[in-house]
Amino acid sequence: MTDVTMDKIVSLARRRGFVFPSSEIYGGLGSSYDYGHYGVLLKENVKARWLEAMVQERDDIVALDSAIILHPKIWEASGHVSGFTDPLVDCRTCKKRFRADHLGDEQCGRRPSKRPGETTDCDLTEARQFNLMFETRVGPVEETGQRVFLRPETAQGIFVNFKNVAQLARRKPPFGIAQIGKSFRNEITPGNFIFRTLEFEQMEMEYFVPPADADEWYRYWVDERVGWYVRYGIRPESLRVRAHDAEELSHYSSATSDVEYLYPIGWSELEGIANRGTFDLTAHTKASGTTLEWVDGGSGERYVPAVIEPAAGVNRAMLAFLCDAYDEETVGDRERTVLRLHPEIAPVKVAVLPLVPRDAGMAERARALHAELRRVMVAEHDDGGQIGRRYRRQDEIGTPWALTIDEQTLVDETVTIRDRDSLAQDRISIARAREHLIDRLAAPWSPPARAATSDA
Ligand code: GAP
Repeated sequence: MTDVTMDKIVSLARRRGFVFPSSEIYGGLGSSYDYGHYGVLLKENVKARWLEAMVQERDDIVALDSAIILHPKIWEASGHVSGFTDPLVDCRTCKKRFRADHLGDEQCGRRPSKRPGETTDCDLTEARQFNLMFETRVGPVEETGQRVFLRPETAQGIFVNFKNVAQLARRKPPFGIAQIGKSFRNEITPGNFIFRTLEFEQMEMEYFVPPADADEWYRYWVDERVGWYVRYGIRPESLRVRAHDAEELSHYSSATSDVEYLYPIGWSELEGIANRGTFDLTAHTKASGTTLEWVDGGSGERYVPAVIEPAAGVNRAMLAFLCDAYDEETVGDRERTVLRLHPEIAPVKVAVLPLVPRDAGMAERARALHAELRRVMVAEHDDGGQIGRRYRRQDEIGTPWALTIDEQTLVDETVTIRDRDSLAQDRISIARAREHLIDRLAAPWSPPARAATSDA
């Protein structure tokens, strides 16, 4: 079995232009990353699959894109101003700052490295509560501008639009509102690549239900969300569901389950599904003076719906897809690294490769085929270097298929199609290539077993 380490993932992501450390030429900024070409394509695919599953394939969920900077009273009503905090301790000896509830997982600043508080030299302060929201000001003058926050979750933008959507979209519980967008948290625990960062994208859906049905819908959404990850190629054995115990529950939640993924750092949260009850709509009704409830136009029945919330992180999902897809194997006397991504998640679907780029006939057909395919899917044309190296480059970015134009193409207008996972090579006609790929993209896919390797 390939040993998938975070170092290998970081190195591949860097080498192939998925993810770069942010502000690198200025020495970098901790817990912040930039996404390169393939990273953007992969991230967009994750979001598109989520939106399809949440909105396109259902009748009961609509989309929303609310502002990042909202009225500051929203964060008072939601409990974030008073309660969205981490307990922090400082060490007066090594000058580092730690989360008091993560001391067992942290490294002290001294060498050889120790856990904070492990030796008598450690001089830790009492824990202090530190709010995770980033503050800024609206208005040209800092002193008089209005204090606002960058949203730490997309969810509140949904709650404060409940009335707009319920009325205009003519929805009746159970119904949901889905939103994808950036959130910001002043996280002080650094490291672990894109797992925990200062800014990240969330995919959140608030599902409004009659309170009596909340438990049933909560269980439904836990199953749905696990199913979504499996549908897009995460191995079921890399996923588990962990229910929060009473001390761990957020202030708004009566039940929460994390979908955890077995990252190289161990089992960690990928997504949370919470039963938020009527907390949010009630809090915003009280603070804003606008009643947020469901009123049945026919019967006149009225109630405050309960909310079930599946809240996922795009970047954490991307990391899980990368880790689960990463594989190394020895083929003949060569070693290759391959990302066995689900074709619908893979950044590039097909590469078109002229075997002998300087052959005018091959070059021309390759260009024409690439132009035809790119109209319906992300396709790459690559005529740089030996064919073996070009295949390996595509393997490393997870391209499921490569079409090679060779001498036989010039005779019978066929190309070879190479399968990334099985390495099988078949011949298909150029005329049918586009249809063939569309069919294969739509076909169900599950990950092949990880190859045995000579530990390349
Ligand atoms: N509205 C509920 C909410 O925000 P959360 O568990 O704090 O719940 C939901 O966040 C998801 O957002 C997490 O499961 C994780 O995938 C992602 N997430 C949260 N903080 C993150 C961070 N600092 N960096 C990357 N992803 C993060």
